[in-house]
This record gives sequence, structure tokens and C-alpha cells, in this order.
Amino acid sequence: MSDIILGIESSCDDTSAAVIRDGWLLSNVIASQDVHKAYGGVVPELASRAHELNIVPVVSEALSRAGVAPGDITAVAFTRGPGLLGSLLVGTSFAKALGLSLGVPIVMVNHLQGHLLADFIRQEGVPVREPAFPYLCLLVSGGNSQIVRVDSPLSYTILGQTIDDAVGEAFDKCSKMMGLGYPGGPVIDRLAAKGDPLRFKFAKPHIPGLDYSFSGVKTSLLYFVRDQLALDPDFMEKNKEDICASFQKTLIDILLDKLIKAARQTGIKDITIGGGVSANSGLRSRIEAEGRKRGWRTFLPEFKFTTDNAAMIAIAGYYHYLAGERAPLDTAPVSRMSDF
Ligand code: KG4
Repeated sequence: MSDIILGIESSCDDTSAAVIRDGWLLSNVIASQDVHKAYGGVVPELASRAHELNIVPVVSEALSRAGVAPGDITAVAFTRGPGLLGSLLVGTSFAKALGLSLGVPIVMVNHLQGHLLADFIRQEGVPVREPAFPYLCLLVSGGNSQIVRVDSPLSYTILGQTIDDAVGEAFDKCSKMMGLGYPGGPVIDRLAAKGDPLRFKFAKPHIPGLDYSFSGVKTSLLYFVRDQLALDPDFMEKNKEDICASFQKTLIDILLDKLIKAARQTGIKDITIGGGVSANSGLRSRIEAEGRKRGWRTFLPEFKFTTDNAAMIAIAGYYHYLAGERAPLDTAPVSRMSDF
């Protein structure tokens, strides 16, 4: 008998549903919400309304692409948090209603655990290559910047994390400040590829241990741009590629300094990355380069698994299901990691 898990993800501004059979991905459908672009960031109320509109068609499409009927589903896995409460409420309520109507169990998943386990999503036609436990995951998104030691699918320890902004927030806020639009990461990534990463220097934090800080580098860029614009109003337009390349390099240096330290301290050499910022081309090539230099085995998720997606929720849900975990029907979503 196969285990067929329907995964549902609605933690922020992507509505996604995926179907996994015994760990193999059958479908992964994502509806992104363009409505937020005009506001330079995600508007929570608009996000939950868009999830309400999207959830039924997205789940239907995922089932139909997988060739799976609702009656074939073994369990429904859903993101319980962390994320935007209104957004999470849509996915959580839908999962509960579907589980109840089908008479199948529901399984709750921590969104971040989905990112940690994305390398275990198996796909037809793609060679299986998975990290060995324990491994380190650099989890970098719009809401998190962490180094996590993953000891088994369901047990992990956060070794270090940001004490202020997440690295994705630094990309987004600085892009907004430079008038480059939202989300900032992809724009800065694209411009950085054409610029000189060594042209400008930005302040790096001095935080003990394995924790991160990204608010200082953001302020450093803010003052730098303000001072330069006072001297030449066209400074930004003339230099945006070099500014982006130098700023991105600073962020990557900060991320890698602590990751290298964590690998040295733990002796762990299997390194994965996850979260929206793991799509960054500069970060990906730098991790691979460091890996070659330091004898790491590096695992970079496919681009479609870097941002929010239900495939990772389904795979994490699969492990929870195998461990016998079931969520009660009065499970409420939680917005913060510490509430798990
Ligand atoms: O994991 P994610 O999709 O969701 C949240 O954390 O909510 O991450 C979104 C973040 C945004 O800050 C976005 O700017 C960043 O991921 N991002 C990138 C790139 N693509 C997305 N940052 C740097 N380079 C990219 N190519």
C-alpha cells in the first residue's frame, strides 16, 4: 500500500499544493500573488484573500496533475507556521476540512522544517542525491537566517540565527531604498552579476558565536547612498550594478563566515541550503567554491524548491506521518517559530 500525502502551503504569499507518493513527487502547483508588487511588500490582508481564491483550484490542479483522486489520499500535511496568521489560517482550515471530509489524518508541518528537508523530495528522472545525517543547513529567507544541524528528518537544532533582520529582508529593504522594486533579492542578484563586487565596502557585523546580524549592513548602505547622492544625484543610476554586486558580496561573506565556523566546530561536511535566498546565484556559486576548497559535499535545491512550495511540506509531512504523528482537528496556526 502506497502512502499518498497531499501537502498544502500558505504561510506567506504563495498558495501551493503538492502530491507525494512514498517520497516521490507527483505534482507541485504554486500560485504566486502579484497583487503585492504595487505595495513594495506583502500585504497580509490581501495575501489571505488571495489564498482563499487560490486554494481550491490549486489543490484540484495538484491532484489532477498527479493523477490522484481525493479518495486515494492517505494524509493531508499542512503548514501550521511560522508565517502570516491570516494566510496560515486558510491552508490550515482547508486541510482540516478536507481531512475531515475524506476521513483521513492531518499532519502539521513547521514551514522551516520543509526547507530543511527539501533535498529528500525524490523526482522521476532526477538522480537521487541526499545529504547524510547529521548535516548543516543554511536556512535563508525573508523571515529567517539560521544555521541548523539536522540530526534526522524530525530532529534538528538551531546553532545560530539572526538577532535582528533576516538576510532576505536586507535584500528587500535595500532594493526598495535603491528604487529597484520588490522582491529585492532577484533584482539585486541580476544586477550584481554585471557589477564589480570589490568596488565598494560595507560594514560587517561582529557578533559572537554563530548568530547573524543584518541591520548594520543595511544602515551602512543607506548612509553610503545618501552621502554619494548628495555629491552626484545620478550616482545610483551610474553605479547600481557595482553597488548591488558589492552589497551582495558583503551579505554572502557574512553568511559564509558563520557557516564555515559552524562546519569547523561540528566537523560536519554535508552542507545544504534552503529558503528563498538560496536561489541567489552568487551564494550558490560561493557555497560550491567553498565546498570544493573544504571537502564539503554541498546540496543546492532546485530553484523551484527554494521559494515557498508545498512539495517540501508534503515530504516533511510524510516523515511526520511515518512517525505516527497526527494533528487534532482543533489545531490552530501559529505565526512565530517559538510557538512550536
Ligand atoms: O522563503 P521565501 O520565499 O519566503 C519568505 O521568507 O517569506 O523567501 C523570500 C525571500 C525574499 O526576501 C526574496 O527577496 C529572497 O527570498 N530571494 C532572493 C532571491 N530570490 C528570492 N534573495 C536573493 N537572491 C535571489 N535570487
